[in-house]
Amino acid sequence: MMVLKAFLALLSLSAVSAMVVIESRPAAPNGFISQGAAPASNSLTLRFALAPNNLAGLEAKLASISTPGSSEFRQWLSKDDVKAFVEPSADTVAAFNSFASANGLKPTVISPNGDWVSLTMPVSQANKLFATNFQLFTHPAMDGTITRTLSVSLPTELVGVVDVVHPTTDFTDPNPRLLPSTNFIRNKRDTPASCDSSNPSGTGTITPSCLQDIYGIPTTPATQSSNTLLVTGYVEEWAQAADLKTFLTLLRPDMSPNTTFSLLTTDGGTNPQGAFDAGTEANLDIQYTVGIATGVPTTFLSVGGDDTIDGFATSLLDTTTFLDGVENPPSVMTTSYGSTEDSFGASMVSKICSGYMALGARGISVLTASGDGGVRGNHDDESVCDDNDFMPVFPATCPFVTAVGSTIGFAPEVAINFTGGGFSNLFATPDYQTAAVASFLKTIPSDFAGTFNKTGRGYPDVALQGWNFEIVVDDEAGLVGGTSASSPTFAGMIALINDQLVAAGKPVLGFLNPFIYSTGSTAFTDITSGHNSGFVCPASSVAFDAAAGWDPLTGNGSPRFPDLLAAASA
Ligand SMILES: *[C@@H]1O[C@H](CO)[C@@H](O)[C@H](O)[C@H]1NC(C)=O
Ligand SMILES: *[C@@H]1O[C@H](CO)[C@@H](O)[C@H](O)[C@H]1NC(C)=O
Ligand SMILES: *[C@@H]1O[C@H](CO)[C@@H](O)[C@H](O)[C@H]1NC(C)=O
Repeated sequence: MMVLKAFLALLSLSAVSAMVVIESRPAAPNGFISQGAAPASNSLTLRFALAPNNLAGLEAKLASISTPGSSEFRQWLSKDDVKAFVEPSADTVAAFNSFASANGLKPTVISPNGDWVSLTMPVSQANKLFATNFQLFTHPAMDGTITRTLSVSLPTELVGVVDVVHPTTDFTDPNPRLLPSTNFIRNKRDTPASCDSSNPSGTGTITPSCLQDIYGIPTTPATQSSNTLLVTGYVEEWAQAADLKTFLTLLRPDMSPNTTFSLLTTDGGTNPQGAFDAGTEANLDIQYTVGIATGVPTTFLSVGGDDTIDGFATSLLDTTTFLDGVENPPSVMTTSYGSTEDSFGASMVSKICSGYMALGARGISVLTASGDGGVRGNHDDESVCDDNDFMPVFPATCPFVTAVGSTIGFAPEVAINFTGGGFSNLFATPDYQTAAVASFLKTIPSDFAGTFNKTGRGYPDVALQGWNFEIVVDDEAGLVGGTSASSPTFAGMIALINDQLVAAGKPVLGFLNPFIYSTGSTAFTDITSGHNSGFVCPASSVAFDAAAGWDPLTGNGSPRFPDLLAAASA
């Protein structure tokens, strides 16, 4: 009896003290430098993702409503339908609340679906409760410091209750804009244009009319006001109305120069319109959505937040939670930002991706640029050219987004060297692309020197022009390129197709990938040439080669508008 009692006491003691590591990394990514322990008395607000009650149910529902041929094809869910899958169960909430109150803390619910709560506490208490050691980190591209840790654990009573503790081990790139190293080149225009028959290799300038020519995009205005397009803006990238007006006057003389965008903000986001407030990325994104999706109401969502506290991961997360609370969401959303998958931490990547799953289920086509470092991350630089461990980019690797890569030229159209592509280390190949990926993998030579995860989600899904786009910044025209240019353009095309579907009384396209890989696949021109070694890295660097069929440079290829519209309407 005595022995049993002692044993039970030991058991309960170990139950109290046992900690389970949920995230850890050996070191901070390159560029982040520890400045030592975070002061014990500093206040820290940590967010906790509470386990959703039926995420598998939502995933199965989404597969059903997005797969052509299904009896409930494109019967998108309402805000409350999604909430029923995503909100934590009463038991989960009770377990978390009792943990909080046992430690003298008061939880605040911070998301419409109740799946995120926050607790504010001193660093010393956070270190103790989560068996961690918060430090201050600096980065040359960032002002100030961020508070992060290399490992975070949960007490056993929170295992299965909490999926993510944030911010902890995430170290996303302070510059997540997907533009290659050479940014906006002012006062430059290369002739002949990239759609001129005398310039089939596409070394000239791309304009909206070029894109209309190359892909058969109509110029006639959309008619359905309920069909809207959303452009996300992060890291104080601000879209300028005056520059859009100049752009339209110059490059869409057939449209009213007064055509503009509306503004939504979250996390204290702003969109100042002063002389030097233009963001190259934001202007590119807004000019090639408004300038392609003729007449589709377009909104710029400026996500604020303090970069030195929250970082890019928080901004992505807050975008999905913001939309969870919106009754009538946009039908297309485009994001031209990313960071290497590894920089977020696995639990955060998985949670943000589930957020995109929920948006897809509501009928939002979520598009993201696939990255500008070829196989080597969101941007390439000389230091990584010899590295054959490929670095996939998130959110492009999320199986619930449509990742958009870049091409150049039109006769033939080829994959551009920087087009982001490869395979996720965290998400498995989704069903909709199993056959496509398997046939690509057969084209890889047996002595291939690159290291990547053959069972991962392959990206991008599609590709289109991404070089020398003419834009206006601070009232000056110039050229810019990147997968950042391709994603807004495809968003514009999808928005125009949705307009025609809505006009015909049909549902919008919503989550695109099962369609793109099946009945929609013949609406894409296969791109079979190109090597994605990077913008800076020499062409001899190890990378993938485009091939017949799907490949991790251009996905299924570039869209032909009339064919895509026909397949979408079938
Ligand atoms: C644009 O707006 C200005 C100022 O409100 C107005 O004078 C002008 O007629 C408008 N132009 C068009 C084409 O609607
Ligand atoms: C490869 O991806 C799968 C998911 O598809 C994952 O379970 C596995 O851990 C990954 N392997 C590596 C080495 O990253
Ligand atoms: C990648 O392609 C772009 C566009 O053609 C070109 O300007 C750049 O020099 C290329 N980079 C390399 C390393 O060849």
